[in-house]
Amino acid sequence: YVGGPTSAVISAKCSEITVTVVDKDAERIAAWNSDNLPVYEPGLDSLVKKQRTKNLLFSTDIKSAVDRAQMIILAVNTPSIAADTTLGSESPRGLQTDLRAVKQCAQMIAEVSLESKIVVGKSTVPCGTSRMVQEILDKNARGGVEFTVLSNPEFLSEGSAIQDLLFPDRVIIGGSAQDANSQWAQSELKWIYQHWVPEHKILTMDRWSSELAKLSSNAMLAQRVSSINSISAICEIVGADITQVAAGCGADSRVGSMFLRASLGFGGSCFHKDIASLVWLCQSLGLPEIAEYWRQVLAINGLQTKRFVSRILDTFASSPKGICGKRVACLGFSYKEGTGDTRNTPAADVCRELIRYGAHLSIFDPKVSEHHILEKLDTGADSVQICEDPYSAISESDAVIVLTAWAEFREIDWKRVLKSMNRPAFVFDGQ
Ligand code: UGA
Repeated sequence: YVGGPTSAVISAKCSEITVTVVDKDAERIAAWNSDNLPVYEPGLDSLVKKQRTKNLLFSTDIKSAVDRAQMIILAVNTPSIAADTTLGSESPRGLQTDLRAVKQCAQMIAEVSLESKIVVGKSTVPCGTSRMVQEILDKNARGGVEFTVLSNPEFLSEGSAIQDLLFPDRVIIGGSAQDANSQWAQSELKWIYQHWVPEHKILTMDRWSSELAKLSSNAMLAQRVSSINSISAICEIVGADITQVAAGCGADSRVGSMFLRASLGFGGSCFHKDIASLVWLCQSLGLPEIAEYWRQVLAINGLQTKRFVSRILDTFASSPKGICGKRVACLGFSYKEGTGDTRNTPAADVCRELIRYGAHLSIFDPKVSEHHILEKLDTGADSVQICEDPYSAISESDAVIVLTAWAEFREIDWKRVLKSMNRPAFVFDGQ
Protein backbone atom coordinates (compact mmCIF):
# COMPACT_ATOMS: atom_id res chain seq x y z
CA TYR A 1 0.00 0.00 0.00
CA VAL A 2 2.78 2.38 1.02
CA GLY A 3 4.98 1.76 -2.03
CA GLY A 4 2.73 3.32 -4.66
CA PRO A 5 1.85 6.63 -2.94
CA THR A 6 5.40 7.09 -1.56
CA SER A 7 6.99 6.52 -4.96
CA ALA A 8 4.54 8.85 -6.66
CA VAL A 9 5.36 11.67 -4.23
CA ILE A 10 9.15 11.13 -4.41
CA SER A 11 9.04 11.14 -8.21
CA ALA A 12 6.88 14.30 -8.24
CA LYS A 13 9.13 16.17 -5.83
CA CYS A 14 12.49 14.97 -7.17
CA SER A 15 12.49 15.28 -10.94
CA GLU A 16 16.16 14.25 -11.12
CA ILE A 17 15.36 10.83 -9.60
CA THR A 18 13.84 7.91 -11.50
CA VAL A 19 11.62 5.82 -9.24
CA THR A 20 10.83 2.26 -10.32
CA VAL A 21 8.16 0.38 -8.38
CA VAL A 22 8.64 -3.37 -8.69
CA ASP A 23 6.36 -6.21 -7.63
CA LYS A 24 6.30 -9.90 -8.50
CA ASP A 25 2.50 -9.69 -8.84
CA ALA A 26 2.10 -9.02 -12.58
CA GLU A 27 -1.61 -8.21 -12.23
CA ARG A 28 -0.85 -5.53 -9.66
CA ILE A 29 1.85 -3.95 -11.81
CA ALA A 30 -0.50 -4.03 -14.82
CA ALA A 31 -3.09 -2.23 -12.68
CA TRP A 32 -0.53 0.42 -11.67
CA ASN A 33 0.13 0.92 -15.38
CA SER A 34 -3.59 1.12 -16.23
CA ASP A 35 -6.45 3.58 -15.64
CA ASN A 36 -7.64 1.55 -12.61
CA LEU A 37 -4.96 1.76 -9.95
CA PRO A 38 -4.92 -1.13 -7.44
CA VAL A 39 -5.45 1.15 -4.43
CA TYR A 40 -7.96 3.92 -3.91
CA GLU A 41 -6.44 7.03 -2.35
CA PRO A 42 -7.60 10.62 -2.88
CA GLY A 43 -5.19 12.46 -5.18
CA LEU A 44 -3.23 9.33 -6.09
CA ASP A 45 -4.82 8.75 -9.48
CA SER A 46 -3.88 12.06 -11.03
CA LEU A 47 -0.42 12.07 -9.44
CA VAL A 48 0.47 8.59 -10.70
CA LYS A 49 -0.90 9.28 -14.17
CA LYS A 50 1.14 12.47 -14.41
CA GLN A 51 4.35 10.97 -13.07
CA ARG A 52 4.07 7.83 -15.21
CA THR A 53 4.79 9.99 -18.24
CA LYS A 54 7.94 11.29 -16.52
CA ASN A 55 10.10 9.55 -13.92
CA LEU A 56 7.81 6.94 -12.33
CA LEU A 57 7.93 3.38 -13.69
CA PHE A 58 6.07 0.22 -12.66
CA SER A 59 7.68 -3.09 -13.56
CA THR A 60 7.85 -6.80 -12.79
CA ASP A 61 11.49 -6.95 -13.86
CA ILE A 62 12.62 -6.86 -10.25
CA LYS A 63 16.18 -8.00 -10.69
CA SER A 64 17.28 -5.48 -13.28
CA ALA A 65 15.54 -2.61 -11.44
CA VAL A 66 17.26 -3.62 -8.20
CA ASP A 67 20.62 -3.94 -9.90
CA ARG A 68 20.30 -0.49 -11.52
CA ALA A 69 19.12 1.28 -8.34
CA GLN A 70 21.39 3.24 -6.02
CA MET A 71 18.80 3.17 -3.26
CA ILE A 72 16.18 0.49 -2.64
CA ILE A 73 13.10 1.13 -0.53
CA LEU A 74 11.60 -2.01 0.99
CA ALA A 75 7.84 -1.53 1.33
CA VAL A 76 6.67 -5.14 1.24
CA ASN A 77 3.74 -6.49 3.22
CA THR A 78 4.47 -7.57 6.80
CA PRO A 79 1.21 -9.08 8.10
CA SER A 80 0.65 -10.42 11.61
CA ILE A 81 0.85 -14.17 11.82
CA ALA A 82 -2.36 -13.76 13.90
CA ALA A 83 -5.78 -14.45 12.41
CA ASP A 84 -7.30 -11.40 10.75
CA THR A 85 -9.74 -10.63 13.55
CA THR A 86 -10.25 -8.24 16.42
CA LEU A 87 -12.63 -10.52 18.30
CA GLY A 88 -10.31 -13.49 18.71
CA SER A 89 -8.01 -13.97 21.67
CA GLU A 90 -4.29 -13.60 21.13
CA SER A 91 -2.07 -16.65 21.19
CA PRO A 92 1.63 -15.90 21.76
CA ARG A 93 2.34 -17.13 18.24
CA GLY A 94 -0.34 -14.77 16.96
CA LEU A 95 1.69 -11.82 18.17
CA GLN A 96 4.50 -12.29 15.68
CA THR A 97 4.94 -10.40 12.45
CA ASP A 98 5.44 -12.38 9.28
CA LEU A 99 8.80 -11.19 7.95
CA ARG A 100 9.17 -13.75 5.18
CA ALA A 101 8.72 -11.18 2.40
CA VAL A 102 11.32 -8.85 3.96
CA LYS A 103 13.83 -11.69 4.30
CA GLN A 104 13.25 -12.90 0.73
CA CYS A 105 13.76 -9.38 -0.60
CA ALA A 106 17.00 -8.95 1.35
CA GLN A 107 18.27 -12.26 0.01
CA MET A 108 17.32 -11.35 -3.56
CA ILE A 109 18.87 -7.86 -3.33
CA ALA A 110 22.16 -9.38 -2.13
CA GLU A 111 22.16 -11.95 -4.91
CA VAL A 112 21.48 -9.63 -7.84
CA SER A 113 23.42 -6.51 -6.79
CA LEU A 114 26.70 -5.96 -8.56
CA GLU A 115 27.30 -2.60 -6.84
CA SER A 116 26.97 -1.18 -3.31
CA LYS A 117 23.56 0.20 -2.34
CA ILE A 118 21.54 1.87 0.37
CA VAL A 119 18.58 -0.25 1.51
CA VAL A 120 15.76 1.62 3.25
CA GLY A 121 13.23 -0.23 5.40
CA LYS A 122 9.81 1.37 5.06
CA SER A 123 7.56 -1.59 5.88
CA THR A 124 6.24 -1.54 9.44
CA VAL A 125 8.44 -4.07 11.18
CA PRO A 126 9.31 -5.34 14.66
CA CYS A 127 12.28 -3.65 16.33
CA GLY A 128 15.56 -5.22 15.26
CA THR A 129 14.47 -5.90 11.67
CA SER A 130 16.93 -3.40 10.14
CA ARG A 131 19.75 -5.25 11.86
CA MET A 132 18.40 -8.57 10.59
CA VAL A 133 18.19 -7.22 7.02
CA GLN A 134 21.75 -5.89 7.34
CA GLU A 135 22.94 -9.34 8.43
CA ILE A 136 21.22 -11.11 5.52
CA LEU A 137 22.68 -8.61 3.05
CA ASP A 138 26.20 -8.80 4.54
CA LYS A 139 26.14 -12.60 4.56
CA ASN A 140 24.99 -12.94 0.95
CA ALA A 141 26.67 -9.93 -0.70
CA ARG A 142 28.93 -10.47 -3.72
CA GLY A 143 32.61 -9.62 -3.22
CA GLY A 144 33.25 -5.86 -2.99
CA VAL A 145 29.54 -4.99 -2.67
CA GLU A 146 28.47 -3.20 0.53
CA PHE A 147 24.96 -2.49 1.79
CA THR A 148 23.91 0.16 4.27
CA VAL A 149 20.51 -0.40 5.84
CA LEU A 150 18.44 2.52 7.15
CA SER A 151 15.11 2.53 8.96
CA ASN A 152 12.65 5.07 7.57
CA PRO A 153 9.18 4.26 8.96
CA GLU A 154 6.11 5.53 7.19
CA PHE A 155 3.48 7.52 9.09
CA LEU A 156 0.84 8.00 6.39
CA SER A 157 -2.80 7.16 7.04
CA GLU A 158 -5.02 5.54 4.45
CA GLY A 159 -7.44 8.02 2.97
CA SER A 160 -5.05 10.94 3.48
CA ALA A 161 -1.84 9.29 2.25
CA ILE A 162 -0.87 11.91 -0.32
CA GLN A 163 -1.44 14.84 2.05
CA ASP A 164 0.44 13.00 4.82
CA LEU A 165 3.36 12.38 2.47
CA LEU A 166 3.42 15.95 1.18
CA PHE A 167 3.09 17.56 4.63
CA PRO A 168 4.46 15.09 7.18
CA ASP A 169 4.58 15.96 10.91
CA ARG A 170 8.03 14.38 10.88
CA VAL A 171 10.28 12.10 8.88
CA ILE A 172 12.43 9.66 10.86
CA ILE A 173 15.67 8.28 9.45
CA GLY A 174 17.36 5.63 11.56
CA GLY A 175 21.00 4.74 10.99
CA SER A 176 24.12 4.19 12.98
CA ALA A 177 26.00 7.18 14.42
CA GLN A 178 29.21 5.13 14.78
CA ASP A 179 29.37 4.10 11.12
CA ALA A 180 30.56 6.62 8.52
CA ASN A 181 28.82 4.73 5.71
CA SER A 182 25.56 4.85 7.60
CA GLN A 183 25.92 8.59 8.22
CA TRP A 184 26.53 9.14 4.53
CA ALA A 185 23.47 7.01 3.67
CA GLN A 186 21.34 8.98 6.15
CA SER A 187 22.40 12.24 4.49
CA GLU A 188 21.52 10.82 1.02
CA LEU A 189 18.01 9.90 2.14
CA LYS A 190 17.67 13.20 3.98
CA TRP A 191 18.59 15.00 0.76
CA ILE A 192 15.62 13.35 -0.98
CA TYR A 193 13.17 14.50 1.73
CA GLN A 194 14.67 17.98 1.84
CA HIS A 195 13.18 18.54 -1.61
CA TRP A 196 9.84 19.21 0.15
CA VAL A 197 10.10 18.64 3.93
CA PRO A 198 11.48 21.41 6.19
CA GLU A 199 14.79 20.38 7.74
CA HIS A 200 13.58 20.63 11.36
CA LYS A 201 10.99 17.97 10.63
CA ILE A 202 13.58 15.41 9.55
CA LEU A 203 14.78 13.53 12.63
CA THR A 204 17.84 11.29 12.47
CA MET A 205 18.41 8.68 15.17
CA ASP A 206 19.67 5.13 15.61
CA ARG A 207 17.80 2.27 13.93
CA TRP A 208 16.36 0.80 17.13
CA SER A 209 14.93 4.16 18.20
CA SER A 210 13.48 4.70 14.74
CA GLU A 211 11.79 1.30 14.69
CA LEU A 212 10.51 1.72 18.24
CA ALA A 213 9.21 5.26 17.55
CA LYS A 214 7.05 3.84 14.75
CA LEU A 215 5.54 1.07 16.87
CA SER A 216 5.05 3.40 19.84
CA SER A 217 3.32 6.09 17.75
CA ASN A 218 0.76 3.62 16.48
CA ALA A 219 0.39 2.00 19.90
CA MET A 220 -0.29 5.37 21.52
CA LEU A 221 -2.85 6.35 18.87
CA ALA A 222 -4.60 3.00 19.29
CA GLN A 223 -4.44 3.41 23.05
CA ARG A 224 -6.36 6.69 22.77
CA VAL A 225 -9.10 4.93 20.79
CA SER A 226 -9.31 2.17 23.41
CA SER A 227 -9.32 4.78 26.18
CA ILE A 228 -12.28 6.67 24.74
CA ASN A 229 -14.06 3.42 23.89
CA SER A 230 -13.64 2.27 27.50
CA ILE A 231 -15.30 5.51 28.64
CA SER A 232 -18.12 4.95 26.12
CA ALA A 233 -19.06 1.78 28.02
CA ILE A 234 -19.61 3.92 31.12
CA CYS A 235 -21.60 6.48 29.10
CA GLU A 236 -23.96 3.82 27.83
CA ILE A 237 -24.85 2.80 31.38
CA VAL A 238 -25.16 6.23 32.98
CA GLY A 239 -26.63 8.05 29.96
CA ALA A 240 -23.70 10.43 29.43
CA ASP A 241 -22.81 11.50 25.87
CA ILE A 242 -19.41 10.17 24.78
CA THR A 243 -19.06 12.87 22.11
CA GLN A 244 -19.37 15.55 24.77
CA VAL A 245 -17.06 13.73 27.15
CA ALA A 246 -14.46 13.48 24.35
CA ALA A 247 -14.88 17.19 23.56
CA GLY A 248 -14.42 17.99 27.24
CA CYS A 249 -11.19 15.96 27.42
CA GLY A 250 -9.83 16.98 24.02
CA ALA A 251 -10.17 20.69 24.77
CA ASP A 252 -7.25 20.34 27.19
CA SER A 253 -4.32 21.17 24.91
CA ARG A 254 -2.19 18.60 26.74
CA VAL A 255 -4.67 15.88 25.77
CA GLY A 256 -5.65 17.18 22.31
CA SER A 257 -8.78 16.33 20.36
CA MET A 258 -7.47 13.86 17.77
CA PHE A 259 -8.14 10.11 18.04
CA LEU A 260 -10.85 10.51 20.67
CA ARG A 261 -13.77 9.42 18.49
CA ALA A 262 -15.56 6.49 20.09
CA SER A 263 -16.17 3.72 17.58
CA LEU A 264 -16.59 0.01 17.02
CA GLY A 265 -12.87 -0.25 17.67
CA PHE A 266 -9.84 0.35 15.52
CA GLY A 267 -9.21 -1.76 12.44
CA GLY A 268 -6.74 -1.67 9.58
CA SER A 269 -3.48 -3.38 8.94
CA CYS A 270 -1.38 -1.39 11.41
CA PHE A 271 -2.66 -0.76 14.93
CA HIS A 272 -3.45 -4.35 15.76
CA LYS A 273 -0.22 -5.64 14.26
CA ASP A 274 1.98 -3.00 15.85
CA ILE A 275 0.59 -3.45 19.34
CA ALA A 276 0.90 -7.20 18.91
CA SER A 277 4.49 -6.62 17.91
CA LEU A 278 5.07 -4.43 20.97
CA VAL A 279 3.54 -7.09 23.23
CA TRP A 280 5.81 -9.69 21.67
CA LEU A 281 8.84 -7.45 22.16
CA CYS A 282 7.98 -6.86 25.84
CA GLN A 283 7.51 -10.57 26.41
CA SER A 284 10.80 -11.42 24.78
CA LEU A 285 12.58 -8.75 26.85
CA GLY A 286 11.20 -10.22 30.08
CA LEU A 287 8.72 -7.39 30.70
CA PRO A 288 5.43 -9.27 31.30
CA GLU A 289 3.64 -6.40 33.09
CA ILE A 290 4.37 -4.01 30.25
CA ALA A 291 3.27 -6.63 27.73
CA GLU A 292 0.02 -6.93 29.68
CA TYR A 293 -0.47 -3.16 29.68
CA TRP A 294 -0.39 -3.03 25.87
CA ARG A 295 -2.35 -6.27 25.53
CA GLN A 296 -5.24 -4.53 27.30
CA VAL A 297 -5.44 -1.98 24.46
CA LEU A 298 -6.22 -4.90 22.14
CA ALA A 299 -8.57 -6.49 24.66
CA ILE A 300 -10.64 -3.29 25.01
CA ASN A 301 -10.76 -3.06 21.22
CA GLY A 302 -12.19 -6.57 20.88
CA LEU A 303 -14.59 -5.92 23.75
CA GLN A 304 -16.00 -2.84 22.03
CA THR A 305 -17.08 -4.86 18.99
CA LYS A 306 -18.55 -7.58 21.22
CA ARG A 307 -20.51 -5.03 23.26
CA PHE A 308 -21.97 -3.60 20.06
CA VAL A 309 -23.12 -7.01 18.86
CA SER A 310 -24.57 -7.85 22.30
CA ARG A 311 -26.55 -4.64 22.28
CA ILE A 312 -28.12 -5.54 18.94
CA LEU A 313 -28.88 -9.10 20.03
CA ASP A 314 -30.36 -7.91 23.34
CA THR A 315 -32.65 -5.49 21.53
CA PHE A 316 -34.16 -8.35 19.53
CA ALA A 317 -34.20 -10.78 22.46
CA SER A 318 -37.92 -10.29 23.08
CA SER A 319 -38.83 -11.36 19.49
CA PRO A 320 -39.81 -15.05 19.31
CA LYS A 321 -36.70 -16.00 17.30
CA GLY A 322 -34.48 -13.16 18.42
CA ILE A 323 -32.56 -11.67 15.52
CA CYS A 324 -32.91 -14.86 13.45
CA GLY A 325 -34.64 -14.04 10.17
CA LYS A 326 -34.51 -10.28 10.80
CA ARG A 327 -33.14 -8.06 8.07
CA VAL A 328 -30.27 -5.82 9.14
CA ALA A 329 -28.93 -3.04 6.90
CA CYS A 330 -25.19 -2.57 7.33
CA LEU A 331 -23.84 0.83 6.32
CA GLY A 332 -20.13 0.62 5.60
CA PHE A 333 -17.70 -2.27 5.57
CA SER A 334 -14.19 -0.80 5.22
CA TYR A 335 -12.16 -0.38 8.42
CA LYS A 336 -12.51 3.39 8.18
CA GLU A 337 -13.93 6.04 5.90
CA GLY A 338 -12.01 7.15 2.82
CA THR A 339 -10.63 3.72 1.96
CA GLY A 340 -11.78 0.43 0.44
CA ASP A 341 -9.42 -1.52 2.72
CA THR A 342 -11.08 -4.25 4.80
CA ARG A 343 -8.08 -5.58 6.71
CA ASN A 344 -9.10 -6.19 10.35
CA THR A 345 -12.31 -4.27 9.74
CA PRO A 346 -14.53 -4.45 12.85
CA ALA A 347 -17.48 -4.41 10.41
CA ALA A 348 -16.64 -7.97 9.32
CA ASP A 349 -16.62 -9.18 12.93
CA VAL A 350 -20.03 -7.64 13.56
CA CYS A 351 -21.47 -9.06 10.32
CA ARG A 352 -20.11 -12.56 10.97
CA GLU A 353 -21.67 -12.63 14.43
CA LEU A 354 -25.06 -11.46 13.16
CA ILE A 355 -24.99 -14.06 10.37
CA ARG A 356 -24.15 -16.70 12.99
CA TYR A 357 -27.33 -15.73 14.84
CA GLY A 358 -29.37 -16.06 11.65
CA ALA A 359 -29.80 -12.41 10.62
CA HIS A 360 -30.11 -11.48 6.93
CA LEU A 361 -27.75 -8.65 6.04
CA SER A 362 -28.02 -6.04 3.30
CA ILE A 363 -24.65 -4.32 3.07
CA PHE A 364 -23.63 -1.09 1.36
CA ASP A 365 -20.13 0.38 1.25
CA PRO A 366 -19.16 3.11 -1.22
CA LYS A 367 -15.71 1.62 -1.88
CA VAL A 368 -15.67 -2.09 -1.06
CA SER A 369 -16.71 -4.44 -3.87
CA GLU A 370 -19.30 -7.21 -3.55
CA HIS A 371 -16.60 -9.79 -4.19
CA HIS A 372 -14.43 -8.48 -1.35
CA ILE A 373 -17.28 -8.35 1.13
CA LEU A 374 -18.43 -11.90 0.39
CA GLU A 375 -14.87 -13.20 0.44
CA LYS A 376 -14.21 -11.51 3.78
CA LEU A 377 -17.39 -12.90 5.32
CA ASP A 378 -16.70 -16.29 3.80
CA THR A 379 -20.37 -16.72 3.03
CA GLY A 380 -22.62 -17.27 0.03
CA ALA A 381 -25.19 -14.74 -1.06
CA ASP A 382 -27.98 -16.51 0.92
CA SER A 383 -27.74 -14.52 4.10
CA VAL A 384 -26.04 -11.49 2.58
CA GLN A 385 -27.16 -9.07 -0.09
CA ILE A 386 -24.80 -6.37 -1.38
CA CYS A 387 -26.58 -3.14 -2.29
CA GLU A 388 -25.78 -0.26 -4.61
CA ASP A 389 -26.80 2.54 -2.25
CA PRO A 390 -27.77 3.03 1.43
CA TYR A 391 -31.49 3.41 0.68
CA SER A 392 -31.89 0.05 -1.02
CA ALA A 393 -29.90 -1.57 1.80
CA ILE A 394 -32.22 -0.03 4.39
CA SER A 395 -35.51 -0.71 2.56
CA GLU A 396 -37.63 -3.32 4.42
CA SER A 397 -35.00 -3.79 7.11
CA ASP A 398 -35.68 -4.19 10.84
CA ALA A 399 -32.51 -2.41 11.90
CA VAL A 400 -29.79 -0.18 10.44
CA ILE A 401 -26.27 -0.50 11.78
CA VAL A 402 -23.61 2.09 10.94
CA LEU A 403 -20.29 0.27 10.72
CA THR A 404 -18.01 2.78 8.97
CA ALA A 405 -17.97 6.55 9.47
CA TRP A 406 -18.42 7.47 5.78
CA ALA A 407 -19.43 11.16 5.54
CA GLU A 408 -22.34 10.32 3.21
CA PHE A 409 -24.10 8.42 6.01
CA ARG A 410 -24.47 11.71 7.85
CA GLU A 411 -26.54 13.02 4.94
CA ILE A 412 -29.08 10.21 5.04
CA ASP A 413 -32.69 11.38 4.95
CA TRP A 414 -33.96 9.49 8.02
CA LYS A 415 -37.62 10.46 7.45
CA ARG A 416 -37.48 8.77 4.05
CA VAL A 417 -35.58 5.85 5.56
CA LEU A 418 -38.11 5.28 8.33
CA LYS A 419 -40.99 5.00 5.83
CA SER A 420 -39.25 2.11 4.09
CA MET A 421 -38.36 0.12 7.25
CA ASN A 422 -40.26 -2.60 9.09
CA ARG A 423 -41.65 -1.87 12.55
CA PRO A 424 -40.28 -1.60 15.15
CA ALA A 425 -37.33 0.07 13.43
CA PHE A 426 -33.92 0.40 15.10
CA VAL A 427 -30.71 2.26 14.36
CA PHE A 428 -27.41 1.27 15.99
CA ASP A 429 -24.60 3.71 15.39
CA GLY A 430 -21.21 2.02 15.77
CA GLN A 431 -19.39 5.18 14.83
C1 UGA B 1 -2.45 4.47 11.16
C2 UGA B 1 -1.74 5.72 11.70
O1 UGA B 1 -2.71 6.76 11.96
C3 UGA B 1 -0.69 6.23 10.72
O2 UGA B 1 0.02 7.32 11.28
C4 UGA B 1 0.28 5.10 10.40
O3 UGA B 1 1.26 5.49 9.45
C5 UGA B 1 -0.50 3.92 9.84
O4 UGA B 1 -1.47 3.49 10.81
C6 UGA B 1 0.47 2.80 9.54
O5 UGA B 1 1.17 2.35 10.44
O6 UGA B 1 0.60 2.43 8.36
P1 UGA B 1 -4.46 4.05 9.46
O7 UGA B 1 -4.47 2.67 10.01
O8 UGA B 1 -4.46 4.23 7.99
O9 UGA B 1 -3.18 4.86 10.01
O10 UGA B 1 -5.77 4.78 9.98
P2 UGA B 1 -6.18 5.66 11.24
O11 UGA B 1 -6.80 6.90 10.76
O12 UGA B 1 -5.08 5.79 12.22
O13 UGA B 1 -7.34 4.78 11.86
C7 UGA B 1 -7.09 3.49 12.41
C8 UGA B 1 -8.37 2.94 13.01
O14 UGA B 1 -8.73 3.66 14.18
C9 UGA B 1 -9.59 3.03 12.07
O15 UGA B 1 -10.35 1.85 12.18
C10 UGA B 1 -10.36 4.22 12.61
O16 UGA B 1 -11.74 4.16 12.33
C11 UGA B 1 -10.09 4.08 14.10
N1 UGA B 1 -10.23 5.35 14.83
C12 UGA B 1 -9.40 6.39 14.59
C13 UGA B 1 -11.22 5.46 15.80
O17 UGA B 1 -11.98 4.52 16.05
N2 UGA B 1 -11.33 6.64 16.50
C14 UGA B 1 -10.52 7.69 16.26
O18 UGA B 1 -10.67 8.73 16.94
C15 UGA B 1 -9.53 7.57 15.28
